[in-house]
Amino acid sequence: MKTATAGIAFLLALGATAFATPASAQGVLNVYCSVQVEWCTLIANEFQKATGVKVSMTQKGSGETIAQLKAEAQNPKGDVWFGGTGDPHLQAAEENLTEVYKSPKMSELHPWAVKQNTDSGGKTVGIYAGALGFGFNTELLAKKNVKAPACWADLLKPEFKGEIQMANPNSSGTAYVAIATLVQLMGEDKAFDYLKKMHANINAYTRSGTAPMKAVARGETMVSISFVHDGVTEALAGFPVKTATPCEGTGYEIGSTSIIKGARNMANAKKFYDWALTPEAQKLEAQAKQFQVPSNQATPLPPEAPKFADMKLIDYDQAKYGKSAERKRLIARWDSEVGALPKP
Ligand code: F6P
Repeated sequence: MKTATAGIAFLLALGATAFATPASAQGVLNVYCSVQVEWCTLIANEFQKATGVKVSMTQKGSGETIAQLKAEAQNPKGDVWFGGTGDPHLQAAEENLTEVYKSPKMSELHPWAVKQNTDSGGKTVGIYAGALGFGFNTELLAKKNVKAPACWADLLKPEFKGEIQMANPNSSGTAYVAIATLVQLMGEDKAFDYLKKMHANINAYTRSGTAPMKAVARGETMVSISFVHDGVTEALAGFPVKTATPCEGTGYEIGSTSIIKGARNMANAKKFYDWALTPEAQKLEAQAKQFQVPSNQATPLPPEAPKFADMKLIDYDQAKYGKSAERKRLIARWDSEVGALPKP
């Protein structure tokens, strides 16, 4: 009897402690986030609310984040890498910078999201998909009486001299998808000839992949090479922005999420990874005015999201262009043959 009473007292005490536990006692989670900051902030806040885990979030482009993971490999500071184009997530998997993890949510995902997991040996997963295309400022086009670009070939026209912006593939996953898309469409040498010719029409290679679309929105450049979902965000904010996907065909990203190798908060990293694959978490994307295609089949596709069925998509070889050697080689070639060219 004495033992039973002591046992009940112990359980009661345990329960009291559990209920009295402050949120921060659930621990912390360091998220490296490669989507736009509005979405990063929302997921950090909502995950914290749902679990009591204190989230610290750093927003950086896809290329910059893989560089950071490499630099910190001996002493990892991040726990999870959320979002960003799929190729550097595959490269991180190959370079052993991320962890194998099989989420119980895997069976709810679209096949393209699961394929990303298979291609990486279980180290990453698709969280969203988005197609590459052009953004353009309709007011600037009208003012200069220029027809909107509809094809890759249009971007070489003299009327776009100094009027196009794209990102730098060293820091931006978007720019790497653009280069890999052109290589798959044209063959490598022709793609680099094209990029060299287009250089004459480029006014800046930005650090972030979304910067060119924002510059289009503000009327700082006429045209951008961007993911088309980023144009929807700017148009909804009231800017004179429209988008097109190239007539010759275009590539797409499988935006991904990975757990960082040696994460100090491994249990929370897994909790976050599972949560990020739920429809509840994926609905936050549209709430943050982002319009990629979510990877959980039960997450509603926002009506504003660009429709893949209306585009001419290439069969983008994620596995090949996510290979470490291939990504490094193509970026190095771009650096020496295009990035190093004098400003036109
Ligand atoms: O968040 C918008 C977005 O276009 C994502 O769809 C994409 O994964 C990410 O930006 C890429 O950013 P960056 O090119 O800077 O790596």
